[in-house]
Amino acid sequence: MFKKDLLKDKRILVTGGGTGLGKEMANHYAEHGAELFICGRRENVLKETADEIIDKYSTNVYYQTLDIRASKDVDDYIQSIFDGGPLDGLVNNAAGNFISPTKDLSPKGFDAIANIVFHGTFYMTHAVGKRWIESSYKGSIINILTTWIWTGSPYVVPSAMSKSGIHAMTQSLAAEWGKYGIKVNGIAPGPFPTKGAWERLNPDNNDDSMMDTVPMGRVGQMQELQNLATFLMADGCDYLTGQTIGLDGAQYLTGGGTFSQLDKLSDEDWQNMRELIRNANNKDKADRS
Ligand code: HXC
Repeated sequence: MFKKDLLKDKRILVTGGGTGLGKEMANHYAEHGAELFICGRRENVLKETADEIIDKYSTNVYYQTLDIRASKDVDDYIQSIFDGGPLDGLVNNAAGNFISPTKDLSPKGFDAIANIVFHGTFYMTHAVGKRWIESSYKGSIINILTTWIWTGSPYVVPSAMSKSGIHAMTQSLAAEWGKYGIKVNGIAPGPFPTKGAWERLNPDNNDDSMMDTVPMGRVGQMQELQNLATFLMADGCDYLTGQTIGLDGAQYLTGGGTFSQLDKLSDEDWQNMRELIRNANNKDKADRS
């Protein structure tokens, strides 16, 4: 879809880049010529991913263990990167989530998610953005969100709340930092199964009931996410900022309507419905005459 040197000379940091969606985006950035920085909490998966990407694309990949909940560690890490030169892009991908009835959450359970998604994403964005502004350097930020920012979602309330906050940050900083040439956008993926997410969001592997809610009848393909993440990171469409793009096969638009379930009706069902409505209309008309 893109020229192989599209991201040549760009230095891009992907948080949570050792696994899941982060790893997929990191691979695609490297494939298009970028130098990569990945961070996360587990050194083994970071090293494995870095080695894999270096092997495949012969680009530089630097990894660092980091918990983005620790603001000082985040700032130190970003300083260490900028000591070697500015970043061009930041992908706020690291997240935490699990399904649970909200009444059963402990304050620590809520904090575990809010501290990663809400606080950690801000620490990272602030640490990178202030350095860009100080040095008059333009950059691009992509926040990985979810469609729950528009609809809310039961059973993942700490995530829905935190991601909604980061959506507000996306819009707010696009406006505040536009004058510095910094663009801030979001991607709101629908179901893109990864081990980390599915173990916590779909532990009984019930893909069928989830797929029933997606008009396209399938989960997302990683390449679709990779392409959008690369488009948003590349130069050429800098006027696009403050936007969160849903990438979900229209799942949330379907689920958001009262009549979504009508999607399941056959032509015959619709015929019957039409008959029933016509009968009701005729009866009303008869009553009026
Ligand atoms: C209820 C739970 C729980 C569960 C943890 N807790 N899991 N409560 N149900 N299933 C509670 C614990 O009991 C504890 O509270 C508190 O949360 C902290 O738990 P820890 O395990 O000590 O936390 P920690 O090691 O910091 O791990 C953070 C985590 C974990 C968020 C809980 O799941 C994690 O590391 N996740 C990272 C990867 C991830 O989640 N990926 C999915 C992202 S998907 P108490 O009070 O008992 O001490 C995503 C959206 C995708 O973001 C959208 C797709 C459509």
